[in-house]
Amino acid sequence: MSSLQQAYPYFLASKAVYANQDLKVTNKYTGEVATSVAMADAGVIDQAIDAAEKSQAAMTAMRPYERQKVLNHCVTRFTERFEELAYALCIEAGKPIKDARGEVTRLIDTFRIAAEESVRINGEVTNLEVTERAKGYTGMYKHVPIGPCSFISPFNFPLNLAAHKVAPAIAAGCTFVLKPASRTPLGAIIMGEVLAETDLPEGAFSILPCSRDGADLFTTDERFKLLSFTGSPDVGWDLKARAGKKPVILELGGNAACIVDADADLDDAIERIVFGAYYQSGQSCISVQRILVHDSIYADFKQRYVDKVANLVHGDPLDENTFIGPMIAESEAKRLEEWVNEAVAGGATLLCGGKRDGAMLDATILENAPHESKVNAEEAFGPVSIISSFSDFDAALESVNDSQFGLQAGVFTRDIYKAHKAWDVLDVGGVVIGDVPSWRVDNMPYGGVKESGLGREGIRYAIADMTEIRLLVIRDPNA
Ligand code: SIN
Repeated sequence: MSSLQQAYPYFLASKAVYANQDLKVTNKYTGEVATSVAMADAGVIDQAIDAAEKSQAAMTAMRPYERQKVLNHCVTRFTERFEELAYALCIEAGKPIKDARGEVTRLIDTFRIAAEESVRINGEVTNLEVTERAKGYTGMYKHVPIGPCSFISPFNFPLNLAAHKVAPAIAAGCTFVLKPASRTPLGAIIMGEVLAETDLPEGAFSILPCSRDGADLFTTDERFKLLSFTGSPDVGWDLKARAGKKPVILELGGNAACIVDADADLDDAIERIVFGAYYQSGQSCISVQRILVHDSIYADFKQRYVDKVANLVHGDPLDENTFIGPMIAESEAKRLEEWVNEAVAGGATLLCGGKRDGAMLDATILENAPHESKVNAEEAFGPVSIISSFSDFDAALESVNDSQFGLQAGVFTRDIYKAHKAWDVLDVGGVVIGDVPSWRVDNMPYGGVKESGLGREGIRYAIADMTEIRLLVIRDPNA
């Protein structure tokens, strides 16, 4: 069994600083303080941005194979520290140990993909001779780093969603300052320990847990050339409004829907939906929230789905058998309990769950929640799903689109024409056929439309955002 260090630093300009230990990190299951972390204030953040700006020239000058070496070092060290990282996630996020191990596996994938992409950032020779006045001109372009980046990452995947910013930044040659979520800073700090072992130029990275007071610079400072934020829609859109001229990438929330059509393999669909709706207590932006089932199979689906969900093992995330651990905080569990009660008062039927003990909310299923109820219309971000039936596939697609969000959607159908129709019609960033919207592998373009965000992550797509095209034009006067 792993353990945590007694105290953790922040990383300022690539160096560990064991300053104040003001940030207490709790074990999200027991509520006890598990360890403490140094916390940055506005002055420290300012120094970090200064260092990132000064270090950018050296970072730009690194050769692609040198950046690849840094990323490969991370792959090796994360693999060696696998159980320590999973344990830290389990304690700081209350993430069941199996899910925590899954996240560390994905962290390693993300850095491995970035290592591969780092030596594939190519340009293009482009024909300019589209008119007589361009006779003898040749164009070519390459991608150059955009400059120092500001990153803000969330609590629900403390490692991998930070990695989706950090790894492409290294591949692209950008310096960065990362603010991990205050409730779950440990994963990012351990990432800092590994980065500090590499040949990144001095000052190239800072990882600074901080309170909201000091954090404004992450959004407003003009020395940053990009802001990439993952978190809640309200916060994300507010940051965009205050970010000035820099481009902003927003990976925000959703109320993901899943259609189960009449021809679906029901055993398979139920198994996947139980996972997609309840793994890590539904605290994923693409967790299954709204389930639409064809009315010819609805009764069967309902009975079998409720049986499975009601029997999920709740408890200590460190226990290998636990499927449902705590939510990130008691306040979040209370919020969602209230949303469930509000839906029931509005006419929804509670099929299982609904009970709360501190931060533990039972896996809950509602039937026919009112359209406007928060648990249907907002992002639940917890262990609650809603089932309802449909008779017409096109109407089901419309229901999926009847949402302010558009991140991913899942469709269980074996009909190729319906699959294509879903891909054409669903107003989301990604359509997953034969699986839940919660499915993600770390090289795919990932992101949303509508309130769910702006831009795409997935290494190649993040690298595109973190680089600028720089054109070279050559004239042949003898042409
Ligand atoms: C998210 O919650 O935004 C990301 C989900 C994932 O990476 O699986």
